[in-house]
Amino acid sequence: MKKMLDLIIVNNDQLNQNYSLLKLSTTDGAILPEMYPGQFVEVHVADSPTTFLRRPISVNFIDKSKNELWLLIQKIGDGTKRMAEYQKGDIVNLLLPLGNSFTSPENTNSELLLIGGGVGTAPMLYLGAQLKQQGFKPNFLLGARSSEDLLQLDEFAKYGEVYTTTEDASHGEKGYVTNHSVLEKKNFTHIYTCGPKPMMMAVANYAHKKQINCEVSLENTMACGFGVCLCCIENTQRGNVCVCTEGPVFNIKELKWIS
Ligand SMILES: Cc1cc2nc3c(=O)[nH]c(=O)nc-3n(C[C@H](O)[C@H](O)[C@H](O)COP(=O)(O)OP(=O)(O)OC[C@H]3O[C@@H](n4cnc5c(N)ncnc54)[C@H](O)[C@@H]3O)c2cc1C
Ligand code: FES
Repeated sequence: MKKMLDLIIVNNDQLNQNYSLLKLSTTDGAILPEMYPGQFVEVHVADSPTTFLRRPISVNFIDKSKNELWLLIQKIGDGTKRMAEYQKGDIVNLLLPLGNSFTSPENTNSELLLIGGGVGTAPMLYLGAQLKQQGFKPNFLLGARSSEDLLQLDEFAKYGEVYTTTEDASHGEKGYVTNHSVLEKKNFTHIYTCGPKPMMMAVANYAHKKQINCEVSLENTMACGFGVCLCCIENTQRGNVCVCTEGPVFNIKELKWIS
């Protein structure tokens, strides 16, 4: 059930000049609501004079042992820049949990590939952690412009094999995730992806061609986050749907992306 909660910032790790990792917990020690990989929260940026609407941010990780919610923030505009400045002790109002979640295969022998591009790596960490807990051996393929924007590699390595691509060849293979050699070396049965739309469309078309089951997490621009403003519409095989309530996770069979 959706809740509006005041959470406290317990840590803000400035990962580099573009990214911050916020760790939040409850103010009174209450257990955080259950949240699943792929779901997101809407953050109220109270102290930004130009940010009137809440901003959608993926659940990056839930550390149950510390009762912490992690949010990976990429500084884009006024809202995310303000969020990246939050200090330990600041109180933030969130609406959560929102949206649907990724699905797990039935067979734990399935070969899974989790592909993240840019800040789209954020939901892949929690998904990988959950899949590992369920007995799967996830593989991660993470892409960025250069090595300094490849984030949380140590965290990903706790849950599976990590492969990387960078456009400037500063880490892993040079180029885009869809060119990585692991795609030819392993017979993946399931792909999960989040990142820039052109990247996800290329992944979706690859998966379709190879008949690999594929789920994508869309990052359409959102305002309300719960199906009221209609600004997040995606045209799918069943007509226009709100990504915030019907998604953000869709099987590629539901989308009109295959060319
Ligand atoms: C389901 C979902 C999950 C997300 N998860 C994360 C996350 O984990 N971490 C994170 O940093 N960001 C995430 N985003 C993107 C984030 O919500 C936007 O970057 C943020 O709303 C921009 O707000 P702003 O005030 O900083 O910039 P604004 O001033 O609102 O916008 C600055 C520029 O960014 C563009 N922009 C705004 N929203 C988006 C968007 N959704 N996608 C692409 N471009 C956009 C605008 O068109 C504008 O050009 C997610 C978005 C969605 C829908
Ligand atoms: S964000 Fe308002 S309907 Fe989806």
